[in-house]
Amino acid sequence: MPAPILVDLKFNPDTVARILKTAFLDRGSINIADPETKGRDLSDLDYALLWKPDADLFERAPNLKVIFSGGAGVDSFMNLPGLPDVPIVRFVDHSLTTRMSEWVVMQCLMHLRQQTEHERHQRQHRWGDMIPPEASEITVGVMGLGVLGQDAVRKLKVMGFNVIGWSRSRKEIEGLEAFDAGELDAFLSKTDVLVGLLPLTPETTGFYNERLFARLRQGGALGKPVFINAGRGKSQVQADIVKAIESGVLGGASLDVFEVEPLPAESPLWDLDNVFLSPHNAASSEETALFRHVERQIARFENGEPLQFVVDRTAGY
Ligand SMILES: NC(=O)c1ccc[n+]([C@@H]2O[C@H](COP(=O)([O-])OP(=O)(O)OC[C@H]3O[C@@H](n4cnc5c(N)ncnc54)[C@H](OP(=O)(O)O)[C@@H]3O)[C@@H](O)[C@H]2O)c1
Repeated sequence: MPAPILVDLKFNPDTVARILKTAFLDRGSINIADPETKGRDLSDLDYALLWKPDADLFERAPNLKVIFSGGAGVDSFMNLPGLPDVPIVRFVDHSLTTRMSEWVVMQCLMHLRQQTEHERHQRQHRWGDMIPPEASEITVGVMGLGVLGQDAVRKLKVMGFNVIGWSRSRKEIEGLEAFDAGELDAFLSKTDVLVGLLPLTPETTGFYNERLFARLRQGGALGKPVFINAGRGKSQVQADIVKAIESGVLGGASLDVFEVEPLPAESPLWDLDNVFLSPHNAASSEETALFRHVERQIARFENGEPLQFVVDRTAGY
């Protein structure tokens, strides 16, 4: 029997343990959360599936051949000591992509349709009729045109939004005005609703800040620009978001990710007007889909086929 797969997923531990029972049946698994694995020698293991792994994980398992991320991002372990120079495979899956686009489209529509105002009126038992702008009057600027960004672009366009996109390298996407890294100003100056779907790397750390918000288009059909982020929390400077909303540089925000998670109860973000918060669940990895994806990739690897969704170690995502 082949060596079991090492699993260190800081998700809901009961769900991981339950679904692991029906996965990797050909090789079994070693779940770090299982007290019985404490102290086990991990040096014989080839594959690891990780999300926010223990800091000493790579020191305990020094002979891995492939690392699988439990999510689309890999930032939770790229800086851990002993990270071996082996392929790192991200989680890319229809279930995750679809969920993210649902969240992005919902947030754009909530700002378009002035949901905060409607909720206020409802609490006041007030028939507050308003005529919102049409989606076509709003330009949504999507930062990050990878797997998630491109799907969000498609679905935002179906809703009628004018959509533009920005990424490190220029993308050729039919019907999309695309900007590359050097064209940030041109991109921002056209954007009414900024959607962040960037990975966390040294370049994107602290990227959504006061200076960036000040370059977004003012006076569009929503009046003020809106910031939406479901990439990573450490890409945003939360104090700057609060300041920008209080000073009117931003008219609102939707945040799924935060500098510190869970968002501390005393954060001013909880109480800001026209800010929608969700607990980093825009697109959670669903365990059954994740384990199937890893099984498929291991089968490819062992059959001599190329792995898919491999991280570019130099770029860091
Ligand atoms: N909130 C949630 O529940 C949740 C769920 C899943 C994922 N996420 C986040 O979403 C991120 C994106 O996922 P994905 O699958 O779409 O990733 P992806 O396919 O790797 O795409 C990343 C995109 O970001 C661009 N990019 C990266 N660094 C950049 C930089 N410095 N400047 C400009 N553009 C840059 C890339 O440009 P190029 O195209 O030129 O390479 C690419 O278009 C993940 O890394 C993760 O952090 C969040």
